[in-house]
Amino acid sequence: MNLKVLISFLGLVAYASCNPLKLNVTQLLCNSPEADAAAQVSLDFINAQHTHGYKYTLNQIEDFEVITKPDGTQVYLLELEFLETKCHVYHPKLVSECEVRPKSEMAVEADCDVALSEAGGNFSVVAFKCKTEIETIGLCVGCIILDALNDTDGNQLVQNTLEHLNKNHTLQATFALLDIGRLTHQIIGGGARRIAEYAIIETNCTSVDDVNCVPLDHAVARHGFCHAEGNGNNAQATCEIFEVGSAPPAGPVSPSTKQGLKHHELTALHDPSATGYLSSESHSAEKAPVVKRTAGDPQPALVAKPEILLPRCPGKVIHF
Ligand SMILES: *[C@@H]1O[C@H](CO)[C@@H](O)[C@H](O)[C@H]1NC(C)=O
Ligand SMILES: *[C@@H]1O[C@H](CO)[C@@H](O)[C@H](O)[C@H]1NC(C)=O
Ligand SMILES: *[C@@H]1O[C@H](CO)[C@@H](O)[C@H](O)[C@H]1NC(C)=O
Ligand SMILES: *[C@@H]1O[C@H](CO)[C@@H](O)[C@H](O)[C@H]1NC(C)=O
Ligand SMILES: *[C@@H]1O[C@H](CO)[C@@H](O)[C@H](O)[C@H]1NC(C)=O
Repeated sequence: MNLKVLISFLGLVAYASCNPLKLNVTQLLCNSPEADAAAQVSLDFINAQHTHGYKYTLNQIEDFEVITKPDGTQVYLLELEFLETKCHVYHPKLVSECEVRPKSEMAVEADCDVALSEAGGNFSVVAFKCKTEIETIGLCVGCIILDALNDTDGNQLVQNTLEHLNKNHTLQATFALLDIGRLTHQIIGGGARRIAEYAIIETNCTSVDDVNCVPLDHAVARHGFCHAEGNGNNAQATCEIFEVGSAPPAGPVSPSTKQGLKHHELTALHDPSATGYLSSESHSAEKAPVVKRTAGDPQPALVAKPEILLPRCPGKVIHF
């Protein structure tokens, strides 16, 4: 706690000393090719840092502006909303081909602030911070309930189905659990139907009788993704096994998921050169409060500005 306070205090000092004058902030259009390009670079960068759970996709560009520093250099700031897809981070599919998790399955969304530099029309990410949350919908009968990733029954379903899979395929390989993506349950007809989604990785063992199975290196291992469903002892799983080398290269390993959480969080703060652009003390504090979108809400009323016909921001909602 103290450390965090100290870091943000130092960030503030660095920020303030570089910008003794009022910041020159120019507001840009969220519905523009530049905003789209910057958002795409941000999404790819943030996905590449994420080594647990699912790939994210862009849902909306919420704000876009540029700060011109006294020395003439510029920093672009983007506020983005991402949604979780159904593709695990090791799935070879491109994000654009991945299905977005619907709200009815307790979707996960992330709000990210990204600072970018620009050169020759190309953006690159300097720093970002993200806040990941579950989209809560009201409790309902028969609804899908997200369980903690360390849930005992969910983990049992994973172990049982993976063991069964290893005894029952013809690939001459033994797979180990790589990452649990999500665990859910649903109360139907007097029992709990559980669903587990998990990623697996090939080990050096070729038979279930081998011991001390160790995952092979990511570059040479086969990866897979399993969807398991169970009700008591009656459980089954279907797994997709990907070609060797088709899985995206493993990025820097992100910190393992906090125990007790129900979803994998995106990196909360990435600011290797301590720019301080994303510190909570930055200019964003002066902005109007963001109206939180809820299911079924109409789009927020446009603030009419005489000479602008389209709202400057936010940009269009891509999914929901
Ligand atoms: C702010 O930056 C813009 C370029 O983005 C420049 O045209 C303008 O003169 C600057 N304004 C001040 C007050 O420095
Ligand atoms: C911008 O990107 C294009 C295409 O990737 C590349 O050819 C060009 O050299 C880049 N420009 C700069 C200034 O880096
Ligand atoms: C393999 O799967 C079949 C069909 O689900 C099942 O009947 C059989 O018992 C399984 N074999 C093992 C060793 O689990
Ligand atoms: C797999 O690797 C581990 C560690 O190197 C070793 O102890 C084990 O015997 C290996 N298993 C097989 C089946 O080669
Ligand atoms: C899951 O993790 C939380 C937080 O560490 C802990 O309180 C809880 O007992 C754990 N649950 C299980 C089933 O291990």
